Amino acid sequence: MKTILITGAGTGLGKELALAYAKKGHTIILTGRRETPLKEVQELIRQNGGHAEVYTLDLTKQESVQKTVDTITDAHSVSYLINNAGAGCFGPLSDLAIEDIDLAVQTNVLGTIYLTKALLPHLLEQTEPKIMNIISTAGQKGKINESVYVASKFAVRGFTESLQKELEGRVTVTATYMGGMDTPFWDETDHIKDKSRLKSPQQVADTIIKHDTQLEINV
Ligand SMILES: NC(=O)c1ccc[n+]([C@@H]2O[C@H](COP(=O)([O-])OP(=O)(O)OC[C@H]3O[C@@H](n4cnc5c(N)ncnc54)[C@H](OP(=O)(O)O)[C@@H]3O)[C@@H](O)[C@H]2O)c1
Repeated sequence: MKTILITGAGTGLGKELALAYAKKGHTIILTGRRETPLKEVQELIRQNGGHAEVYTLDLTKQESVQKTVDTITDAHSVSYLINNAGAGCFGPLSDLAIEDIDLAVQTNVLGTIYLTKALLPHLLEQTEPKIMNIISTAGQKGKINESVYVASKFAVRGFTESLQKELEGRVTVTATYMGGMDTPFWDETDHIKDKSRLKSPQQVADTIIKHDTQLEINV
């Protein structure tokens, strides 16, 4: 059984991945900025007889990412990192606020890079270490009113494909591309008009776990 660090594990896809991997017997390190949703997921996992720990973490702050990773790795042997946390940024480029652009790029791109870099020396000491990056179909093709979000996800795709080559034979690095999911991700935007056509995050988590030995998963 592995110890799996999941970012953005308090809500949406991260929560469902945490619940599903915990059901398979893995220990889950639940991370995100807000403690309350993480504790709720921890409680659900414990009620099902599983193991989970909570560490709050703001991915946009490099020093705090490094400190939290040091604290986590002092107590746990983490062999699987799931970079799932993400921030949206939707609308015509001319209407986007600079702070929303910054937040999406800092969270999706720099956050993923900071955490992966901080955890990598530890991962390299583990047996069969693995990194899964949750990207999006926004990492595969451009979309109207998603320029900044798409740019950030293309960056994560480039990061992933480069690490696949750089770490080949030492760390398995996988990429996951999915379309729309009905999660809190869409709560503060009207970019998606009809959420009823979106997949549930449980459904997407189940598919990811079924195929998690593949280097690329398309849901
Ligand atoms: N929903 C979709 O349609 C869709 C489609 C394709 C791909 N995706 C991707 O799937 C992933 C999960 O999204 P979701 O749909 O499950 O949305 P979500 O429920 O909003 O989850 C995003 C998570 O990221 C965490 N997070 C955000 N900023 C953070 C930061 N600075 N530091 C640490 N944690 C942070 C949030 O927790 P806190 O607020 O507590 O920090 C939240 O739990 C994202 O990468 C998203 O881009 C989503």
